[in-house]
Amino acid sequence: MVRFLLRTLTPRPHLVARTAGGERECLRFSKQLALLAYLGARPDGAASREELVSLLWDGSAQRDARHALRQVIHQIRRHAEAELVHGDGALCVRREELEFDVVRFRQELAAGRLEDALALYETDFLSTVTVPDAPEFERWADDLRRQLAAERGELLRTLLARAADEGRWAQAARYARTLIEQDPADPEPRLRLVELLALSGDTVDARIEAERVRDLPEADERAIARALAAGAGATAGHPASPGAGLPEHPPLVGRTGEFAHVVERWKAAAAGTGGAVLLAGEPGSGKTRLLAELAPRLRQDRGLVLAARCYPVEAGEPLAPFVELLAAAHAAPGLAGAAPGSLATLAGVIPEIAARFPGAAPPATPVHPAVLAAALLEGLLAIADEQPVALLLDDAHHASPAALGFAHRLARRVAHRPLLLVLAARDAVRAPRQTRAMRDLAASDAVETIPLPPLDAADVVQLLGALARLPQEAAGAALAARVVEHTGGVPAHVLALLRDLSGEGRLAIRDGAWAITQGLTDRRTPLPAARSRTSVARARLEALDPPSRALLAALAVWQRAATAQELALLADQPEDAVWEGLAVLARRRLLAHSAEGSYAAPRDATGEVARAVVSPVVLAELHRNAATLAELRAPQDPVREWFVAARHAAAAGDMERAAGDAVHGAGAIEARSGKSAAWKELYTWLDALPEPLKPDIAARLPQALREDTAAPGKGESAA
Ligand SMILES: Nc1ncnc2c1ncn2[C@@H]1O[C@H](COP(=O)(O)OP(=O)(O)O)[C@@H](O)[C@H]1O
Ligand SMILES: [Mg+2]
Repeated sequence: MVRFLLRTLTPRPHLVARTAGGERECLRFSKQLALLAYLGARPDGAASREELVSLLWDGSAQRDARHALRQVIHQIRRHAEAELVHGDGALCVRREELEFDVVRFRQELAAGRLEDALALYETDFLSTVTVPDAPEFERWADDLRRQLAAERGELLRTLLARAADEGRWAQAARYARTLIEQDPADPEPRLRLVELLALSGDTVDARIEAERVRDLPEADERAIARALAAGAGATAGHPASPGAGLPEHPPLVGRTGEFAHVVERWKAAAAGTGGAVLLAGEPGSGKTRLLAELAPRLRQDRGLVLAARCYPVEAGEPLAPFVELLAAAHAAPGLAGAAPGSLATLAGVIPEIAARFPGAAPPATPVHPAVLAAALLEGLLAIADEQPVALLLDDAHHASPAALGFAHRLARRVAHRPLLLVLAARDAVRAPRQTRAMRDLAASDAVETIPLPPLDAADVVQLLGALARLPQEAAGAALAARVVEHTGGVPAHVLALLRDLSGEGRLAIRDGAWAITQGLTDRRTPLPAARSRTSVARARLEALDPPSRALLAALAVWQRAATAQELALLADQPEDAVWEGLAVLARRRLLAHSAEGSYAAPRDATGEVARAVVSPVVLAELHRNAATLAELRAPQDPVREWFVAARHAAAAGDMERAAGDAVHGAGAIEARSGKSAAWKELYTWLDALPEPLKPDIAARLPQALREDTAAPGKGESAA
């Protein structure tokens, strides 16, 4: 039974005995406590007497020091009234009796209980005390302190990102403030705070915080402006608080295959076959969530698991995410195996490494990016030489081309080493400067892409079922189907819709079971307007890269199926770009099912919205291309294609072409069914045109008829 608790992550480190009557403090900070902490932090809880002597009595005569060590052990026994340390040659701490807050912190972290981990960490490890005349101990404590602080930083960034992703601005702002306390000179959490305050509508505080960021040496005015502008984009419909009865972190569903696959790759890496995987999906598809679920799982195995994230505002250092990863790994034993030159380069940009390797003299002049990249690569590989390493990098689409190039290089170097790089990124990048690098990475043999497609109705049933019982199976399935139809199955939109519904009282958990109101399963009753199908579709389309969006718009304008070659004409894109765009659309389930080798826009709101989001100029262009395609197809099916071409030409504003195409269509009918059928069809077509276009086209028909020899009533007036 654990009877003692060693507290070191608090301003007043002490040892507590737990008794039936409560807690009793039995030791304040002292050499005794230092010894317990040192042993407690060892993986096996043990150290030799020689090691402890040189750690705590550096410079004392051996005999005296050994005597002092015995005294310290004796004092621990006397104060604790228990044998917490035992052994002859090596001394060992009794873990079954003594709980150590540092170990507990890391256990909570590994288990994904992030808030619990955070609560344990009041201040940095032993930051308020020193052991006189024990420089060796001070160095050790310093190292561990930095390492723990980095872990806590990672923890806070994760919590912040989660809270922000879920729209819990106030909570996210609290995490940002804690990060600022931890490192007041770091502009990143300050920018996040400005953004979060702006998002929560607290514009005055946002401006005050923005002033503080401006005081920092590396203030980036554009990043500040972006952070302040975040509030303007926030809609009133955003979930400021989760819907009644819905937990903030619903269980993960529908990602078992992807999860298991990454774990498998991690096992392979640990056995010496490393590599890189890329979790690819649209915003809200669950990339960050999957990484957050993976980290504790990967940590269960032997090895070092590090996580970082790329930010759009990372202006200063192009390789920032990898510098951050290596900084977090500065205490890893393998790093000592890197070449002195590389360590010196790294010491120049990573203070933790400079502190650990005082002999490595940082270069006097700023290092060339290529030199830094080489040093980072060597540092990471040196660490992996001693223990398996997993690097989790979120939002890689924000990474600089240099960082993406580095990731690619790393991926190619670790085929026979225990290192796994897990990247998460949008599968379509909007910023052109990253497009090439991101595309090269995704296409590389060294990088395995794992797409995160939208959830299907069965996944949503599972999600509902994991939150509460579903008494009426049919109602649950009907609701799930509607939710998927409404949201495209994108997890973020699914959750937002469920929150809206429970906020409106139409969906609730009562006594552990779902209460689903009648209207929710009835297609005739609309779902909430705040997150209408069109607004969801618009958000999803806006998150596409422009070429893929243009492709979908072209299909939506065409309104029929088309092959990739035809699409190249319709969207005026090279064929390989078309294939790439089709892959993105298919992954996001933004294409309707159609025959092998041909593609169509979905027949729901998405298609309409795809047409609506392009500019009138582009729309006219698309109609012109559609007219051309139909004209090209006319030899196969003249009756149909000429009229289709005519309709698109009219929509493109080219009345002359519309009239000509229609006359050709009429001619085709005449050849098959006679003159009167042709006239009839021509007038029916004219009649179906939008009102404002009719007179203009009708006026042009005679001319078109004169020019067309095959048309009905050659030379007669059609008007
Ligand atoms: N498979 C899933 N099951 C349940 N919830 C999920 C799943 N994937 C994502 N979520 C939730 O959806 C929201 C958006 O996910 P997130 O990971 O932030 O998306 P991304 O990083 O791809 O933009 C989060 O609240 C997350 O917890
Ligand atoms: Mg994310």
